Amino acid sequence: MSRSAHPAGPRHADVLPEGHYAAPPADLNVLDPKVWARTVARGEDGVVTVAGLPVTRLAEEFGTPAYILDEADFRARARAWRTAFGDDADVFYAGKAFLSRAVVRWLAEEGLNLDVCSGGELATALSAGMPADRIAFHGNNKSAAEIERAVRAGVGRIVLDSFQEIVRVAHIAQSLGKRQRVQIRVTVGVEAHTHEFIATAHEDQKFGIPLAGGQAAEAVRRALRLDGIELIGIHSHIGSQIFDMSGFEVAAHRVVGLLKDIRDEHGVELPEIDLGGGLGIAYTSDDDPREPQEIAKALTEIVTRECRAARLQTPRISVEPGRAIVGPTAFTLYEVGTVKPLDGLRTYVSVDGGMSDNIRTALYDAEYSVALVSRASEAEPMLVRVVGKHCESGDIVVKDAFLPADLAPGDLIAVPATGAYCRSMASNYNHALRPPVVAVEGGEARVIVRRETEEDLLRLDVG
Ligand code: LLP
Repeated sequence: MSRSAHPAGPRHADVLPEGHYAAPPADLNVLDPKVWARTVARGEDGVVTVAGLPVTRLAEEFGTPAYILDEADFRARARAWRTAFGDDADVFYAGKAFLSRAVVRWLAEEGLNLDVCSGGELATALSAGMPADRIAFHGNNKSAAEIERAVRAGVGRIVLDSFQEIVRVAHIAQSLGKRQRVQIRVTVGVEAHTHEFIATAHEDQKFGIPLAGGQAAEAVRRALRLDGIELIGIHSHIGSQIFDMSGFEVAAHRVVGLLKDIRDEHGVELPEIDLGGGLGIAYTSDDDPREPQEIAKALTEIVTRECRAARLQTPRISVEPGRAIVGPTAFTLYEVGTVKPLDGLRTYVSVDGGMSDNIRTALYDAEYSVALVSRASEAEPMLVRVVGKHCESGDIVVKDAFLPADLAPGDLIAVPATGAYCRSMASNYNHALRPPVVAVEGGEARVIVRRETEEDLLRLDVG
């Protein structure tokens, strides 16, 4: 396999084309711990290891592309959230970020609860033994079958998202002779500072019931009248990949305002408040995420202060981090297939995956980092765009980054912070086979979600 240098592409900051990138890092061999899973390190031979395992060995054993997930890091982050919020609050891991049966077991063992938002996620949670009363069921259009399954299973709460759903859940629960614990999801009218597609608290969108115009108050009125449901709290989720706590502050203020109105109108103090997920992680060295301890302190203080001002008992708080737990714990391992320097522009590095295993760059203009991991290199930095093997030019994994100029076919490169919303949003576009998730821990590696095969694809094709 060739390790030789290829014709030079653009390299120096003074000849870089317009783009959205910082200056090349001082040393491309250094891995910023902010964006890499905790046990990732570069060995003395230059090969990057995770949980003590060289990526070259992982690639040989499991193939590429592959998501490599650091189990100890996942458990440590889950535990950090759990500990930060303590016994007076609940942490629900948002399964949409990434869910598998192993993940469910780790969460159950670490004392977390689970937020699911589809029948498929619910089935995964139940099949891996998550106690139903630790599951919250979300979604803006749950089917009657999904609701029935959740109620029968005894999920801890269903988060109601519309007027129709209030009646639907109450009716289904009553017909099963049950009283389902529910929360009502409200939109608080906050413009979260994040990409439009992942902001969820402004009013002009599909989720929740607006506080504005008294709609949420009316939803509460109706919910309190129905026998099949027990209203236990109000839910707000303002968006995703958020760094600024001010959105949560406004949300808490408005949700507590509703709790106060409910107390004044109905003489009822709802016991729970859920502030959703959405805390950001570092995708590049420029991002500065907050620690769970700091987030827990800030959120608890906000809610306590608002409740004191409204003369309410402080409700039990819950949060739903997804990305902040699993995001940083995994990286995607790719093999370089072609390296194509375009004079005066940049060098295109094609890998053996692409938008089918990471749609986030194409969908949200997301930024990622990348590193050469199968060896160290002292070559100078070259500006690259890491692209996939799909049939469209928007198939970009990393838009602008630097890799060593001697990068060659056969090298392994890795994109960190791909634990959240990559495997869970992966597709079979161009009949790509979705990559496996390999969990590594204490020098051992095991597949927790296997690679798709052509047989898997053909099994669905029954025409
Ligand atoms: N709770 C609710 C009700 C949610 O809708 C979400 C995310 C979360 C919690 C978890 O948010 P997190 O802590 O993971 O940010 N596909 C997009 C993100 C969509 C998030 C949808 N809801 C992305 O790749 O950035």
